This record gives sequence, structure tokens and C-alpha cells, in this order.
Amino acid sequence: MSKVEENKKAWGLLSENHYHHYKQQFQENRYQFNPIVLKDLGNISGKKVLHLQCNTGADSIVLAKMGADVIGVDLVPDNIFFAKQLAKDLDVRNIDFIESDIMTLMEKHEGLYDIVFTSDGAIGWLPDLKKWGRTIRHFLKEDGFFYVHDSHPFYLTFDEDKIVNGVTEIKYPYFKQAPDEETQIGGWASEAKEAKNYFWMYTMSHLINSLAQAGLFIEFLNEYDRCVSGMGGTTEDQDGLFCYPALEGALPITFSLKATVR
Ligand SMILES: C[S@@+](CC[C@H](N)C(=O)[O-])C[C@H]1O[C@@H](n2cnc3c(N)ncnc32)[C@H](O)[C@@H]1O
Repeated sequence: MSKVEENKKAWGLLSENHYHHYKQQFQENRYQFNPIVLKDLGNISGKKVLHLQCNTGADSIVLAKMGADVIGVDLVPDNIFFAKQLAKDLDVRNIDFIESDIMTLMEKHEGLYDIVFTSDGAIGWLPDLKKWGRTIRHFLKEDGFFYVHDSHPFYLTFDEDKIVNGVTEIKYPYFKQAPDEETQIGGWASEAKEAKNYFWMYTMSHLINSLAQAGLFIEFLNEYDRCVSGMGGTTEDQDGLFCYPALEGALPITFSLKATVR
């Protein structure tokens, strides 16, 4: 089985739990983008948005609730099934979902979008960032833009069990090219499941170069010592963002980037 196929199988183990988790969050009015993403996106009402790696559709639904017409794309059939179910449950109609590997999306889907969007926990699942950059460019209108908010690649180098105590020890080398093989997946919106999966380290230069070489212009790249969800060891600030108290101001945890076609 290829690494992407292994990832597909692994992510599929989480779909139903993610659906229930996010459904409850929406029903309790607790699911929204963090203030950084909200400010960066601005008014997207009436825009056509392609959401890459949409999981079970939670962020796609937020985009649709902001007034955009949204197509979410994900590798996993059960993610698409539950994303459609979640949109139906919440009566969100300006939305649809497509099952596809991002790496082959250009061959399967037609359309041009005002915004291509991707968010937290997405990039490292993709084996070829140059193709990712070309895919983003391919689906953008001439006056469109790409937006991503995700984990900072430097943060991803650290041992996840030690950083919760403020200890920074490199476990995943920044420049490693082969993917890390993990034996567990999930753990934030579902209990973790045992399943082989692969995650590729990306560097800031990979990211910027793959977008620039696809013909995109970087409008901004912002780095933050905050993350969006309360991972172990973090505390919440007044904006609803989370940081490791011992590492506040010391290292980047997330970043956001906006790129335009011209
Ligand atoms: C951490 S989740 C992203 C969640 C995202 N923040 C959201 O809810 O909108 C990563 C997603 O990437 C998807 N994925 C992994 N590899 C992919 C690929 N090659 N093509 C498309 N989707 C992929 C997984 O199925 C999973 O749903």
C-alpha cells in the first residue's frame, strides 16, 4: 500500500468521531475560526472557496457560514460522507464536498475559485509541495488568493511529549526528507487510534518556493507563538489562543500566509 493509501486508511478511522465532535461543538456554538484567521480572511461573502483537506467539513462550514460558496476536498471517503451529513444537520446549503487526493485534484476537478484555503494540520500530509503549489495556482482566478494557517515547521521539529513541559528537544529534523512513520493518529477531536501513517516535514523554504515557483506572490507571512487549540501544556489567552507559558515569545508555533496571483 502506498503511503498516501496508508494515510487514507488511518484518517478514515477518525471520521465518525470527528463528525460527532464537531457537530456538538457547532450545536453548542463553540466552533469558530481563531481571531487571526478571521482577520486575515476579512469579508468573504459571495466568494467561491476551495477548501483543501477539509476533514469532516468543520472549517468548510465556518467558511460557508461567513457567506462563501464552498467546495471542500478530502482524501477520505468517510470524511466526505460525514462532512455532507454535518452540513445537512446544520442546514448549511452553500457547500459541497469532493473526495480526492490533493495530489490528483487537477485531473479530477474543474473550476476556478476566488480563494483556495487550507488550515491547521494539513500541509505535512502531502508528499509533493511543488505539486501542491501548482494545484493551488491552477484553481485560482486571476484576482484570487490562497490562504493558509498551519503549524509552523520549526515547531514541528520538537518532541511532542517534552514540549508540553516547555522542553524543546528536536525529535523530527527540520531538513528530513523522508516522511516520519507514526503508529497512532488523532487524539484531539477523537481518541487516538492505532494506525500506520506518514507525515512529511516541510520547511519554510519548501512552502514559499512551491508557491512562488507556481506563479504566486506572497502578500504576507506571519508567525505566531500561539496555536488554535488547547494542546497539552498550553494555556488560553484573552483572544482564545493558546501558548506554552514557558515558551511564550520564544518560538513560532503557527503561521499564516496569504498569496495572490498578481
Ligand atoms: C488535520 S486534518 C485537517 C483539518 C482541517 N483543519 C479542517 O478541519 O479543515 C488533515 C486532513 O488531511 C486529509 N488528507 C491527508 N492527506 C491528503 C491528501 N493527500 N489529499 C487530500 N486530503 C488529505 C486527511 O484526510 C485529513 O482530513
